[in-house]
This record gives sequence, structure tokens and C-alpha cells, in this order.
Amino acid sequence: MSNNPIGIFDSGIGGTSIFKEIHALLPNETIIYLADSKNAPYGNKSEAEILQLSIKNTELLINKGCKLIVVACNTATTNAIAYLRSNYNIPFIGIEPAIKPAALNTQSKAVGILATKGTLSSHLFHKTSDLYANGIKVVEQIGEGIVPLIESGKLESEEMRGLLQLYLKPMLEADIDYLVLGCTHYPYLIPMLTEMLPKHVKIIDSGLAVAKQTKAVLETSDLLNKSKEKSSIKLFSNGKITILNSILNHQFETAFLDF
Ligand code: DGL
Repeated sequence: MSNNPIGIFDSGIGGTSIFKEIHALLPNETIIYLADSKNAPYGNKSEAEILQLSIKNTELLINKGCKLIVVACNTATTNAIAYLRSNYNIPFIGIEPAIKPAALNTQSKAVGILATKGTLSSHLFHKTSDLYANGIKVVEQIGEGIVPLIESGKLESEEMRGLLQLYLKPMLEADIDYLVLGCTHYPYLIPMLTEMLPKHVKIIDSGLAVAKQTKAVLETSDLLNKSKEKSSIKLFSNGKITILNSILNHQFETAFLDF
């Protein structure tokens, strides 16, 4: 079992930000990535739809023999991971907006969170936010339109800059000193965000934390791949493969798969 692949899925190409961290930390691991770009964005779908899509992706990865699944999507994690954990007999790693470190370290007592509607309205997000953000102003902002722009290859467009300006405004007015990226597509915006934000505002993204957690769970479950053979990496998309290749800088093997 330990030589079997790690499965990773997202509503599209955003979870490749997590895939890159996992591959960098665990270069021996075989990885299968599913970009469900055909159904992106998940963020505006109902909880029931997000759950159905998460089940579809999970079952495909399990059929491909995955020993552990990383739900590289905040929207799918916050809406579906409890169900997945109780219905499938392999470990699941999820990703949630990192509100805790922001709330613990803020000096201005105001933090911003940019995420999808599905994440911000989820029960799990509210539970975490209520737990850690006591006495701190949390400026929540739905990143409406950002995922479709990234999925259509318009990462560095003027349209994107306009949206970010609009979404950062209330946060800057509230004097945030931390911006939490609550969607795995958003780390690709860090260069643009860094240009637009005052220097003292720190950006928090949870990619590395997810990779470390994946390693820890593989270790405790005795599932780390100890073979000396070169790992195989394969990323599948049911959308435009050119856009997946471009976000990966053409560095990995990809293929179209209708799922
Ligand atoms: N990458 C997904 C997330 O982390 C994007 C959500 C979407 O498809 O709207 O939430």
C-alpha cells in the first residue's frame, strides 16, 4: 500500500499550488491530481452539489488505488470532508482558511479573509472563526469571479487587478495586517497582491502546512513511500489542458480525462 499514489483533487487548477508543496516535500511519492475544471467554480454551488462532486473525485482516486487523499480545495473541505472521512477507509487531508495564525499574530486586531462563498458560508469555517477570532475584526470577502478568471488563463489580467482592488478596499479601510488566502487558486495571485498591499500586510497561505500534515499522516499511518524508484506524477484535467500546463510551467505530465 505504501507504494500506492497520493490522490489530490480540486475544483480546477488551483490545487496545483498545494500539489507543488507536497511534491517538493515528498519527492518520492507518486501523485495523481484531478482538476475538475469542467465543474469549476465549486464556490457558488450548494453544499449538496459540492458533496456529490467531492464523492465523484474521491471514488475515481480510490479506483486508481490512492492510499490517501488531499482535498486541495477549501470549498470541498469545508463542505464535504466530514462525510468523506466517515465513508471511506483511507486518510483525508483537508485545507481550511488559516484564520488561527492570523488571529493570534495580528497587531491591528483586524484580519482579512478572501475565500469563496461556499467556504465563507460553511459551518466548519464559522466554527473555526468563532474559536480563534474572539475580539478580532474579521473582514470576510467573497472572491467572486476570481476562480473563473484563473481557470480561463487570465491570471495576470487588468480584469483581475480590478477585482482585487475592489475586494481589498474594505480590508484596507479596516486596517488589516494579515490577509488569509482561503482558496487554493489564490496563491497564484501573490505577486499581484504583494504589489497592491501595503508592505506591513502579511499574506497567509496554507500550502506548506498542508504538505507537512500530509507527511505527518503518512508517517503515522506507515504509508510513506520508501522505494528508491523515481516517483511518477500525473495530473488530469477535464477542462483545458493548455491552461493546466501553463500554470505548471509545462513541468509535469498532464492528460485530459473526462470525469
Ligand atoms: N480552489 C477552490 C478552493 O480552494 C476553488 C473554489 C471554487 O471552485 O470556487 O476553494
